[in-house]
Amino acid sequence: MDMTKLLLSSFQNKTSSQTPFWFMRQAGRYLPEYREVRKQAGSFMNLALNPELACEVTLQPIRRFGMSGAILFSDILMIPYGLGVDVEFVEGKGPQLSQIQNAQDLTKLSFDSFDRLNPVYEALDRIKSELGNETSLIGFCGAPWTVATYMVEGGSSKDFKNMKKWMYTDEESFSEMIDLLAEASIQYLKKQVKAGAEVLQIFDSWCGVLTKENFDKYSIQPTKKIVEGVKADFPDIPIIGFPRKCGSNLPKYVRETGIDGVSLDETVDLDLTLGTIDEKVLLQGCLDNGLLLGNEEKMLIEAEKILHKMKNRRFIFNLGHGVMKYTNPDQVGVLSEFIKSWKK
Ligand code: CP3
Repeated sequence: MDMTKLLLSSFQNKTSSQTPFWFMRQAGRYLPEYREVRKQAGSFMNLALNPELACEVTLQPIRRFGMSGAILFSDILMIPYGLGVDVEFVEGKGPQLSQIQNAQDLTKLSFDSFDRLNPVYEALDRIKSELGNETSLIGFCGAPWTVATYMVEGGSSKDFKNMKKWMYTDEESFSEMIDLLAEASIQYLKKQVKAGAEVLQIFDSWCGVLTKENFDKYSIQPTKKIVEGVKADFPDIPIIGFPRKCGSNLPKYVRETGIDGVSLDETVDLDLTLGTIDEKVLLQGCLDNGLLLGNEEKMLIEAEKILHKMKNRRFIFNLGHGVMKYTNPDQVGVLSEFIKSWKK
């Protein structure tokens, strides 16, 4: 592991007066230069599967704001695409996928088309060679539960009705799909590491709708399997889990998945939570992304509170969820400069 990089060394017990930072969705529509390249690419998939353009948009926020981490420009829906699902991002509607809703549909999924994802690894390779030696390259995937929600619902959902219907009518085939996604995630992440990813994040954005028992089955167990699978080949790669809005399941998730770091969302009460997580586990988060839409002073007061509470922990500053498209880039600049200048 390259210990000269602030973000990577934060996983060890190395003290630096500086706090590493990056922001979820730091590349995206709030940046005019992103909108320009996105227009040129024609569609989101064309952009994500074009190594040169994906590299360019990954680097855009780094050039402007100097984050300590560059997250690969891609999407969690690349895995369904690699398994043969049609994936399209429709303006104003979000992702649209050909649906997988029962045991019969599962036979449509196959690893035969997994090479469709080769441009992703090529993008990582390019980014790695263009990144300065201070910025860490972050690869990622969605957690099986969260990725499955898009496949089963055919896109974004509010009630996850098709997921719950399948889960509660034919648990065996439902578990098969989750296992298949875990296996695909292991292969995908390993290839990302081979191509140059130095840290990995597993996004479980929708695990917050699971009961305690199902959280264990469909969030903790598959995540644990992915962590073990990747670490069998790459024991030193740091892996961050993001069990968004998982509430009181958080300590168990951290203990049982084997992740090296946990990304916290904005609803987490840091005073109650810090004592429940082993100090060896890195924390990441958790400024409310809505503060970037408000006034500067309020945003910086809240950022400082987080920096202060985390100052004795292994910590990467981030938001509780992604940068919204309505965000003024100048506000991201103000926040970035504040974190860079803040010393423990
Ligand atoms: O900068 C980064 O964070 C890296 C790139 C990245 C994107 N999506 C780019 C993107 C990452 C890490 C993701 C993860 C992702 N994608 C998640 C997990 C994190 C989270 O937000 O909870 C989820 C749930 C998705 C699924 C997804 N992708 C949806 C629901 C949408 C549509 C919503 C929207 O804002 O339109 C996307 C599209 C998407 N992924 C965009 C970007 C920049 C916007 C589409 C575009 O530019 O055309």
